[in-house]
Amino acid sequence: MKYHHNRSSSSKKNVELDFASDQTADRVLKFHKSLPNYQATPTQELTALASHLGVASIRVKDESKRFDLNAFKVLGASYAIASLLHEWLGLSSDEFSFEGISAQQKRYKHLTLVTATDGNHGRAVAWVAQKFGCKAHVYMPHGTLEARAKAIQGYGARAEITDLSYDDTVKLAAQTATAPDSFLVQDTAWDEYTQIPLIIQQGYFSLLSEAFEQLKSDQWPSHVFVQAGVGSLPAALAARLQVMSKGTDKMPDFIVVEPTMANCLYQSMAGNNGDSISLDGHLPTIMAGLACGTPSSIALRVLADCASGFLCCDDEVAKRGMRVMGNPLGEDPPITSGESGAVTLGALYELCNNPANAAVREQMGLNAQSQVLLFSTEGDTAPELYRDIVWGN
Ligand SMILES: Cc1ncc(COP(=O)(O)O)c(C=O)c1O
Repeated sequence: MKYHHNRSSSSKKNVELDFASDQTADRVLKFHKSLPNYQATPTQELTALASHLGVASIRVKDESKRFDLNAFKVLGASYAIASLLHEWLGLSSDEFSFEGISAQQKRYKHLTLVTATDGNHGRAVAWVAQKFGCKAHVYMPHGTLEARAKAIQGYGARAEITDLSYDDTVKLAAQTATAPDSFLVQDTAWDEYTQIPLIIQQGYFSLLSEAFEQLKSDQWPSHVFVQAGVGSLPAALAARLQVMSKGTDKMPDFIVVEPTMANCLYQSMAGNNGDSISLDGHLPTIMAGLACGTPSSIALRVLADCASGFLCCDDEVAKRGMRVMGNPLGEDPPITSGESGAVTLGALYELCNNPANAAVREQMGLNAQSQVLLFSTEGDTAPELYRDIVWGN
């Protein structure tokens, strides 16, 4: 594991965090609650593991229970698509709900939502398009498992596996979305495309809103580890925590976790002073959701200011996280967590269990008083791969 400690995070915050206000977080959660069959996902307490690893507590928000989607991604896609349709229809703020928008389905059903995905985001876009009653066209990069494309087609969307890298697949989707009545719904930003990715980030605030409704007041985390692909997820959570901690010293140590073979945020921070670095070509990691070569421009700016560190992990760390969560100690509840979902627990395990990581642990201030909050961002989204890893094939 390689770690970059981000000293600038403790200095004055310059980045604009207005997008992460309390009012926005409330509006987002209210919208999510309007979706059919909404239920908050559970935050599980791993008491036996915490004592085994020598920290005060470990809590894991289990996104395998997010609707029937097995991943958190729909929080961003649904809020962004609702915002897009709401604006396109010219509705009032009272009509910003699933029911309010879908009452107008006849007017928007010819629209197509276009996106590129490693799997989870595209599945979410297809699911939301089906719920609202419009069309979706999803492009997937070279090497995507056929099972992930099939899952997307199952929601009535057009899904195609290309022979392109993730970054080039995003460019293809952006090109397709220039057609009439088509909209790009992409979960990463670049200079000319920031509005929808910012709204997608806001959609992720419900992870924290739900978690803090579930936690007691003395369970405020001291350490939050969040996995990154392009960085939209960790940027959303870091910004929101920063706003929630304003005027206090409560901001948790916030550690961004990436695969070593797809560590564009780590490299941008550790090797390029916070300026974006792009990794070319195929990114060989089992963590499909995190296999992204270019940081989201708006996410990198937030993380440069708000994250306390950037950690890279090999695939073995994610595998360990999957096995530990699936086969817990004592009375701890089992959690089904996929490759991208489990890497943060795997990283915590490795940090606490391997004497070689004592110095990093110290830099992070990780000790017997630490209250750790993690997000298992997906379940077994590739079931055969999950079984192979957990059964040790
Ligand atoms: C399961 C899972 N976890 C985490 C992430 C990381 O999110 P982001 O790319 O916004 O950093 C993704 C992205 O697709 C994902 O699918």
